[in-house]
Amino acid sequence: MIRKRVGILISGRGSNMSALIEAAKAPDYPAEIVGVLSNRAAAPGLAVASSEGIATAFLAQSKFPTREMFEDVMTQILESWDVEIVCLAGFMRVLGEDFVNHWAGRMINIHPSLLPLYRGLHTHERALADGATVSGCTVHFVTPGLDEGAPILQAKVPVLPGDTPETLAARILIEEHRIYPEALRRLALGDLSTLH
Ligand code: GAR
Repeated sequence: MIRKRVGILISGRGSNMSALIEAAKAPDYPAEIVGVLSNRAAAPGLAVASSEGIATAFLAQSKFPTREMFEDVMTQILESWDVEIVCLAGFMRVLGEDFVNHWAGRMINIHPSLLPLYRGLHTHERALADGATVSGCTVHFVTPGLDEGAPILQAKVPVLPGDTPETLAARILIEEHRIYPEALRRLALGDLSTLH
């Protein structure tokens, strides 16, 4: 089986990155994780990726005069790894149009809400403030509009009495780790027939 070569962008903990790395260990998984790039040197996920024998890179946007130059170098690094698919996994920077267009149809993101609800930050705080009874997560294609691309998979979880942003986030994270590998599997196979 030919596996698609996947690069992951992170900014922090990298638990979704780890879920993708674990899934890709299965011999019949149609993608392999070939590199992890962080925009934060202290991202714990970088050490995890290194310990798995995966190539890593750190790139600080502040070292570049413009966002476009920073993102051009990100593309160069990803292409030096022969990446075919990019997964954003807690990458906490809005990406510019050139970068997004370069990877159009080949870049996906996980977001901790039932998009189109709660694009952007503080999703759990906003869901709780609204008195939502259901929340969840979405894997979607990345397009220039923030969290606006077509969804690939979603999972719902109940919002329970007494939930805090932390307890709700933890319940949703379990589902993130389940649907992200499944969405990547479908994209790598070109099997997005269940898109809704
Ligand atoms: C995840 O909950 C992910 O959905 C969220 O950040 C967390 C990263 O955790 N992403 C966003 O909010 C993107 N706007 P992780 O580093 O452990 O995967």
